[in-house]
Amino acid sequence: MNRYTIANIPGDGIGREVLPAGVQVLSAVAQRCGFALEFRDFDWSCETYLATGKMMPDDGLTRLADHDAIFLGAVGYPGVPDHVSLWGLLLPIRREFDQYVNLRPVRLLPGIRSPLRDKSTGDIDFWVVRENSEGEYSQIGGRTGTGEDEIVIQQAVFTRRGTDRILRYAFDFARKLGRPHVTSATKSNGLYHSMPFWDERFAAIGAEYPGIATDQYHIDILAARFVMSPERFDVVVGSNLFGDILSDLGPGVTGTIAVAPSANLNPSRRYPSMFEPVHGSAPDIAGQGIANPIGQIWSGAMMLDHLGEAEAAAMVLAAIEAVLRDPQAVLTPDLGGNGSTAVLTRQILEKLQGR
Ligand code: NAD
Ligand code: IPM
Ligand code: MN
Repeated sequence: MNRYTIANIPGDGIGREVLPAGVQVLSAVAQRCGFALEFRDFDWSCETYLATGKMMPDDGLTRLADHDAIFLGAVGYPGVPDHVSLWGLLLPIRREFDQYVNLRPVRLLPGIRSPLRDKSTGDIDFWVVRENSEGEYSQIGGRTGTGEDEIVIQQAVFTRRGTDRILRYAFDFARKLGRPHVTSATKSNGLYHSMPFWDERFAAIGAEYPGIATDQYHIDILAARFVMSPERFDVVVGSNLFGDILSDLGPGVTGTIAVAPSANLNPSRRYPSMFEPVHGSAPDIAGQGIANPIGQIWSGAMMLDHLGEAEAAAMVLAAIEAVLRDPQAVLTPDLGGNGSTAVLTRQILEKLQGR
């Protein structure tokens, strides 16, 4: 029997509510498909920070390293500044384990009403491939001067290696998907050094894939096109910051960000990859038991796919879609219903069991 060890990090806020829902569904599908998932819990969070001054212990990354994958809820909560909590837990995991791809599907699921009312399932279905290890996310820079003379410098870092590997991933992924079209998010009209370089590498790597069509848009008009004509996209590749923004905008256009999953991938498989919903800890609804668990559960399906359990992954996604298609389904408030996390999770479990 195949056996996988998974490091669970529920984190903060609704992460603590949706992660158990994900674990329940993954355990059920593992049992059905005949493989074993051994979950180990790592309760690191803003609470840990308030108690110890650290988001995770000094040897935290070493303790995660020997797992087959990491399953994470959300990090960050009022009381600890976001740059402290995120640079103390989530971002070091992405970097230490060289999870340089952040793969985020954008799909209008059945039964969910897009704010673009004439769109239906199939019209909005594309993937954001986000660079996840460098770019605009950097701790390089600093503050100098005082008072009105204060200056803050925030550096962005684009390496040739880091840029080429994410672009190559996007082209390979488009080929694997059978949707030979890659769109690049740029801003080479305003950013003087980084984005002209990005465009240059996009053209160079694109030339290695003659069968794949390319286009590129500045991030501002690309944002508008996500809303005006989302059906034109297949695979969209962007830098760390542009990919972050587009991967909330895309799901926003499908009606809710709460269903959106993500895979932080180390394609070399030298280190564990990490799977987490796109959303955060949602302090405004935390503790009420009404968070939508679908983003977490779909992230779990992406984890199964990564582990080689493609059939189980497809079953989980089919169960999610079956619930959303069911007019009798009781959904969470973000989808217009009055159901709880537990009730929505139970319905997904029932569909999984063929009921
Ligand atoms: P957020 O995603 O937590 O919340 C944005 C809005 O979406 C809120 O109104 C929230 O209630 C709603 N929402 C999000 N997930 C939902 C779900 N599953 N079900 C129903 N509604 C949901 O974004 P934010 O408010 O900008 O961030 C809150 C905290 O989370 C911050 O500390 C931020 O840094 C952190 N954050 C962490 C991650 C991560 O760990 N990957 C991602 C984004 C934000
Ligand atoms: C995400 C989040 C994180 C990011 C934050 C919390 C640092 O928004 O996973 O999309 O920007 O990568
Ligand atoms: Mn984000």
